[in-house]
Amino acid sequence: MACLGLAGCAAFASPGAVAAPAVHPAQWPRPAAALPADPQLEARIEALLARMTPAEKVGQLVQGDIDSLTAADLRQVPLGSVLNGANSAPRHDRLASPREWLELADRFYAAAAAAAPLPLLWATDAIHGHNDIRGATIFPHNIGLGAARDPALLRRIGAATALEVRATGLDWTFAPTVAVVRDVRWGRSYESYGENPQLVAECAAALVEGLQGRAGTPEFLDAAHVLATAKHFLGDGGTGGRDEGDNTQSEAALRRDAAAYVAAIGAGVQAVMASFSSWHGVKMHGNRALLTGVLKERMGFDGLVIGDWDGHAQLPGCSAVSCPAAIDAGIDVVMAPAGWRDFYANTLAQARSGAIPAARLDEAVRRVLRVKLRAHLPEEGPPSSRPFAGHFELLGSSAHRALARRAVRESLVLLKNEHALLPLAPRARVLVAGQGADNVTQQCGGFTLDWQGTRPGRDIRPAESIYAGIRAAVTAAGGSVQLSPSGEFGARPDVAIVVFGESPYAEGAGDLTSLAYDGEARDRALLERLHAQGIAVVAVLISGRPLWIEGELAAADAFVAAWLPGAEGGGVADVLFRAPDGSRRHDFRGRLPVSWPRAPSAGASPQPLFPYGYGLRYASR
Ligand code: GLC
Repeated sequence: MACLGLAGCAAFASPGAVAAPAVHPAQWPRPAAALPADPQLEARIEALLARMTPAEKVGQLVQGDIDSLTAADLRQVPLGSVLNGANSAPRHDRLASPREWLELADRFYAAAAAAAPLPLLWATDAIHGHNDIRGATIFPHNIGLGAARDPALLRRIGAATALEVRATGLDWTFAPTVAVVRDVRWGRSYESYGENPQLVAECAAALVEGLQGRAGTPEFLDAAHVLATAKHFLGDGGTGGRDEGDNTQSEAALRRDAAAYVAAIGAGVQAVMASFSSWHGVKMHGNRALLTGVLKERMGFDGLVIGDWDGHAQLPGCSAVSCPAAIDAGIDVVMAPAGWRDFYANTLAQARSGAIPAARLDEAVRRVLRVKLRAHLPEEGPPSSRPFAGHFELLGSSAHRALARRAVRESLVLLKNEHALLPLAPRARVLVAGQGADNVTQQCGGFTLDWQGTRPGRDIRPAESIYAGIRAAVTAAGGSVQLSPSGEFGARPDVAIVVFGESPYAEGAGDLTSLAYDGEARDRALLERLHAQGIAVVAVLISGRPLWIEGELAAADAFVAAWLPGAEGGGVADVLFRAPDGSRRHDFRGRLPVSWPRAPSAGASPQPLFPYGYGLRYASR
């Protein structure tokens, strides 16, 4: 049913559908366009559109997952893009080589060229480096980058990630997440840059520029850059800690938390992904007032809006293989990972019957064409023919690893430092304990080689565990190190560094009801046991968010929030230890991107244990 543009509109007027509160687009910001009007581009789009059949148009609106399609399928069905979901890979092998990714990209490109009027795009979740590819540089997750408060660093991370994505023949990433996390019990808190909309906006714009290149300059969407996606529109971080939950904020609060979309549009972001979450009971995938009225018409976003993983199926009257309501609401590309073939067939029938108005179909296709032409897709040629394709030396390069290590250093937040225990002299007897000490899997967290971050550490390389970094710093100075996850030791250590925290998770699997996480009692007991023996204790917490650590905090002389630092754990030792000559190598720079709740049951708290922006310095002592 065609929607009249009213919130809670007829698009999903099915029994039981609820109407969201009214939205007032004129009260929303209107960012300056990142790109000047381009009549030549628009003329090319119209000329292409005029030559496209309904089947070719509908194909551009459908995205399938590589685990559910073959090159032969792409020769039959003119899909406009594919994705590899966080568990999808060539031959379903998470350890497929970079060359296999590139060769598959070539096969898909060639097959699609036989059926579709424009070249195929391949999207991936490169959210903390090209994290689905073995050998890629794995950066800290966003919450640590929010703590770093360093836009220049983020730009460089975006640029490095773009090069690594290009090396494997892909051209689009579903990053950055620009959620403003309002309750850290949410399983996707670590994908947020923090609770402050302005901080998130600054980080979002920087990463978009790094990934895509600066809008209006020759580097914009050139061969070294990739398409970015601001996600998940809108209000995904404000659902009371429940992933895909219901955001009941006011329109004004929703508008406040949309600052990063204003910034991302201002930086020229070419894609926005709709959120699984709802606003006052109405699924974002079906909210035309916000997707079209606000994002497209008011904010002037002229790229494409993509749905999330079968998110359209959650709309009343829809399924994974049919959803005119989502397209009517403003979804331009529907992510139909497994059901893409039937979704294509049903949507083609709905276009032919008028259930999807021709004007809306054309508007969606125009947006896809605009993005593809801005990305020079017709001129670029097959993936392996592009300038950085096959340059696998870019993956995990020493320069990119050094950048990741710098990001680790800048992300660390010092919460406690009794008696100025830190920085430590490296010529000492050091015990490294805790289940996170020599655990690259835990350091990296979710979306690392697989969705939930379950791969063994030996699969994630290049990498350096926090323990390995400590061992290198201490032995270089003539000190000695003992690794003992359980905390048992032979000779009494001068200091114990205990690395502990959350096991990896992603999305809803990480939702908590209490911040007293699994393993908290074990970790607290270990710290208390060492502390009771009069050993100086440094606690290093590995987590995707603040957790309830009152006991751990009391048992430690120094306490560091390390977030999910990624593969370059050596960055932790860079800050904890002095240089062999006693000089200080790096001071702490990180400041809390989220307030630290005081109680285990509170995902946010008016009187936090540590406030937003808190972070000690060596220089402050
Ligand atoms: C997931 C996530 C989204 C991701 C997409 C593709 O469900 O919600 O952030 O980009 O699917 O993997």
